Amino acid sequence: MDFERFDLEIDRHPDWNHRWLQPPQIAYLVSTLDRAGNANLTPVTMGTAMVSPGNGWWYSFAIVNEHDACRNLLEAPECVIGYYGPDLMYKSWITALPIPRGISEFDVADLSPLPSQKVRPHGIQECPVNLEMKVYHSQRLGDDGGSTMFTGKIVAAAVGKEYVRKDVEAAERVGVLSIDPVFEVLIAPQEIGPDRPERLYYARMQSRPLYRDSDDIGCSNDWIGDFQTWLSDEERRGRIDAREREELLELYQRWVEGPDAETNRQVKAALTGRLREMVWRQM
Ligand SMILES: Cc1cc2nc3c(=O)[nH]c(=O)nc-3n(C[C@H](O)[C@H](O)[C@H](O)COP(=O)(O)O)c2cc1C
Repeated sequence: MDFERFDLEIDRHPDWNHRWLQPPQIAYLVSTLDRAGNANLTPVTMGTAMVSPGNGWWYSFAIVNEHDACRNLLEAPECVIGYYGPDLMYKSWITALPIPRGISEFDVADLSPLPSQKVRPHGIQECPVNLEMKVYHSQRLGDDGGSTMFTGKIVAAAVGKEYVRKDVEAAERVGVLSIDPVFEVLIAPQEIGPDRPERLYYARMQSRPLYRDSDDIGCSNDWIGDFQTWLSDEERRGRIDAREREELLELYQRWVEGPDAETNRQVKAALTGRLREMVWRQM
């Protein structure tokens, strides 16, 4: 493949489209309070969930510094994230309008507050999934960045009972995909004419079929697992024999004791070559 190269630290290349970089992102409303307790709702897409093994679920998103949500989160670092489907697109667009700080988008957009379990801001009754988050870190993006990234722990959730029931009964438990969430895909003028103002375009995800990683390679019981378990399971599967497993473990040991590409060049090359040959071996 030939590549067009873009240097994103210098002037914009006329062919650059930042949507090469920003994938479709699930849309949600972020509910916050200011210091005085005034409620605010802001639609957000620039962020996502993460897991920290042994330390729960985390979420990060970035908000432009001037937005009420950003100022509120700096004053009162708690929020509720509410995922929504196509039925809430119009109301969520109302919450994105430049509504003065201190005026509640719950009232203007006709959305109903859902009392939270562990944080002060309310969730949104109309959102099938509400995630309560305590903010642990706030970080400007770059030294003089125009956005602030908030990272927090999700401490409680409220999910519509009908969705929980369907999810529990489903063969493939896709969670939030079952609410048919909307994804931000593009901000653009209407395709039919450049005289139309910019608006946000959404897409919905077709979640079937699901594509599964191969069962013929990797740990048998863990999703990823560790190196030793992986090799044991390949032996059990018949991809390698006991001697090969021992040799690979020995190479692995020699590599982890000195993971230096210069001084341990031979071990690195040998381990790479053996693993490469093993993973592509026909069974
Ligand atoms: C679907 C959608 C996603 C958005 N995502 C973000 C975002 O990730 N970060 C951000 O700063 N603004 C985002 N915006 C724009 C803000 O929601 C908008 O500017 C809003 O007026 C800010 O409200 P506030 O001042 O009450 O916080 C998004 C808007 C929409 C409609």
